[in-house]
Amino acid sequence: MNVLLIGSGGREHSLAWALAASPLLTKLYCAPGNGGIARDAECVALNVGDHQAVAAFCKDHAIDLVVVGPEAPLVAGLSDHLRNEGIKIFGPSQAAAQLEGSKAFTKELCDRKSIPTAAYGHFTDAEAAKDYARAQGAPIVIKADGLAAGKGVTVAQTLDEALAAIDDCFSGKFGAAGAEVVIEECLIGEEASFFALCDGKSVLALATAQDHKQIYDGDKGPNTGGMGAYSPAPVMTEAVCTRTMEEIIKPTVEGMAEAGLPFQGVLYAGLMITDQGPKLIEYNVRFGDPECQVLMMRLKSDFLAALLATADGVLETFDLRWHDDAALSVVMATQGYPGAYEKGSVIRGLDAAGSDENVEIFHAATSVKDGEIIATGGRVLNVTARGRTVREARDRAYAAISRIDWPEGYCRTDIGWRAIAREDDQAA
Ligand code: AMP
Ligand code: GLY
Repeated sequence: MNVLLIGSGGREHSLAWALAASPLLTKLYCAPGNGGIARDAECVALNVGDHQAVAAFCKDHAIDLVVVGPEAPLVAGLSDHLRNEGIKIFGPSQAAAQLEGSKAFTKELCDRKSIPTAAYGHFTDAEAAKDYARAQGAPIVIKADGLAAGKGVTVAQTLDEALAAIDDCFSGKFGAAGAEVVIEECLIGEEASFFALCDGKSVLALATAQDHKQIYDGDKGPNTGGMGAYSPAPVMTEAVCTRTMEEIIKPTVEGMAEAGLPFQGVLYAGLMITDQGPKLIEYNVRFGDPECQVLMMRLKSDFLAALLATADGVLETFDLRWHDDAALSVVMATQGYPGAYEKGSVIRGLDAAGSDENVEIFHAATSVKDGEIIATGGRVLNVTARGRTVREARDRAYAAISRIDWPEGYCRTDIGWRAIAREDDQAA
């Protein structure tokens, strides 16, 4: 099979790595890819926003399956265009991608299917929104409705903060994404992520993960796209996973099918594990980054076969095997991220660092220049390792990092701390 993978981050590198290992694969292309992905795929300069150009590429290169990494092409309707042209694609339609693209859409689905989630109000004008916030009181969560690059959410500890966040949304700070606002009850508990493949009717649970969003050790400082992740998430016990499938994932897939918007692709549920059980915070219609990297590291089975079964609607009879091991990924970023940073520094020592068979170094933002690896973005490398415990995976990842020669690089030193503390408690 010939496969076209769309995207350029660490998530896509881990997908490329998994797809490249498939006996079903003939040729893997990635648009646009990066310096690391180039080891596993032929990187092609395609304008992904130009759906006709993507379809033409698929026809010229006899592409059997398109796999979309990021949400933007899905929300822009790439799947619909390719399907109309008879090209097979892993990823939801534009209408089904509203699960990520519109918080109000998802909240209404939760209402219809009685899916546990935070109580909420939905507003199109600032005064009504403020009245609701005043009536509910702090802490309270203010969300721009649309896609705001992960920046549209304020967990307000005080009413003043909540009112300011409402003003920010309606003053256009998040562009069109903020023209509608969802205000939510603040859920208390531990956050975790749950991933499942869906073929429109059937669901196959993948695995769980937890990430670290903040830039500094101790989960301090500004939010980022994610500074590290591990899988499985210890808080996601078998009982919590079963409840997540029965109370959240299956009713979602059913509700989408009933609405005439069958969901095909990967469903990424952001959960709060509360005293009353798992509650949905949000959906994404793609793999998490860097959560995908730890999932791929734990997967034993052929992932291309799984994506194909999803696209073909035959998941019901499909199963996947996983390593019992844990996996952990540490993000190396350019110093300064998530603020301003310099691009173009040289990274050395990656071959030695990646020589442990339990370690994979996925590239998130690199290019190759004169035979050297150059950092081209904020989050640059995902040093990912497997181990019998989260602690062992962490030790292997940091041992690999110590061999990377990149003075301009930065990483947190405490990825996995919560899971490791729990392992220590259990051992004691
Ligand atoms: P979202 O973009 O919806 O994932 O929100 C970003 C982050 O805000 C989440 O990962 C949570 O940490 C937090 N958050 C969002 N909604 C809530 C809520 N209702 N209660 C508590 N925290 C929330
Ligand atoms: N790591 C969080 C995300 O991919 O949305």
